[in-house]
Amino acid sequence: MLQRKTILYFLKEVRYNFQHSVLAKGDFFMVNIAIVGATGVVGTKMIERLEESDLQVDHLYLLASARSAGKVLQFRGKEYVVEELTEDSFKRDIDYAIFSAGGGTSLKFAPIAEHDGVIVIDNSSAWRMDPEIDLVVPECNAPTLERKIIANPNCSTIQSVVPLRPLHDAFGLKRVAYTTYQAVSGSGQAGINDLRNGEKGEAPTNYPHPIYNNVLPHIDVFLENGYTKEEMKMIQETRKILGLSDDVAVTATCVRVPVYNSHSVEINVTFEKDTTPEEIRALLAKAPGVIVLDKPEENVYPTPLQATGHDEVYVGRIRRDISQPNSFHIWCVGDNIRKGAASNAIQIAEYIEAHNLRK
Ligand code: A2P
Repeated sequence: MLQRKTILYFLKEVRYNFQHSVLAKGDFFMVNIAIVGATGVVGTKMIERLEESDLQVDHLYLLASARSAGKVLQFRGKEYVVEELTEDSFKRDIDYAIFSAGGGTSLKFAPIAEHDGVIVIDNSSAWRMDPEIDLVVPECNAPTLERKIIANPNCSTIQSVVPLRPLHDAFGLKRVAYTTYQAVSGSGQAGINDLRNGEKGEAPTNYPHPIYNNVLPHIDVFLENGYTKEEMKMIQETRKILGLSDDVAVTATCVRVPVYNSHSVEINVTFEKDTTPEEIRALLAKAPGVIVLDKPEENVYPTPLQATGHDEVYVGRIRRDISQPNSFHIWCVGDNIRKGAASNAIQIAEYIEAHNLRK
């Protein structure tokens, strides 16, 4: 069996390498940050992830709805009082506003913050496909800052493009077919409550069917073409982040499963050039933000329980697809609240600071 110690060593090494490729140790970046939606599932994780960051936070502003105004939250041993988000919230010395308070809030308040000179990193889907707005995963593409609003991609998309970037660069993507197994934390507290209450026999209030002991091939709303909005997000956002030409085919089926945290994605990929599972493993082992756990004969492959709490994306079960040429299956697991949301947003700010892109 692959020793736990060996795995932990790999985890430490990869984290060390990626952090150091983004922020050099000892660098000192002083920033003022506002977190919009600070009381939510992702907002809370953003505060936690920011505590781990090398970013030096001078002023931190925690914003949410009027319901949460006055609530006290901790950051690096200090207490911060949550304020109600208003049109005047950004008329202060704020460098970054990281939003995770729903699409409506982002549509209204991100332009106000941008107008006030703040760099917005937005976790909602409101701005992602706007051609003027950068959609960024720091391991894959860099922000141009032509607009001060930067979109954080969909959670399943983020964890999928991290390994696809180096594979596309090496072998050329011809077709990608995703099937997801998505955790309830992706639906915020309401999704977590449905699974928890379902275990006690209570009816769901967030999903149209029980999620406990069940699997729902339904994430977000159904569209006219028969796909769900989540599936179309994965397709369109993958194209935008990787800059795929129209002749690369991308499709997706998104499924909600009774797992609290961390999404799994089966990536079925066809390349222009042929390669081997060994070559793919070797390439991904060196790729930023990726950890290869692939010794199925020893029961070593990524799972949601093991990925939870980490920023890296885990890949395994890498094998040739015997049904068609130049094709492979890759099993990919990531913490949807960390890398799929909070960590990616903070890493965008870290990237901008490390590369001195903020004017
Ligand atoms: P609040 O806690 O005050 O409702 P989640 O998706 O995990 O439920 O979290 C949503 C986050 O977005 C919460 O912090 C929530 O604040 C915040 N939020 C929701 N609606 C608004 C709004 N209109 N203005 C500001 N924050 C909002």
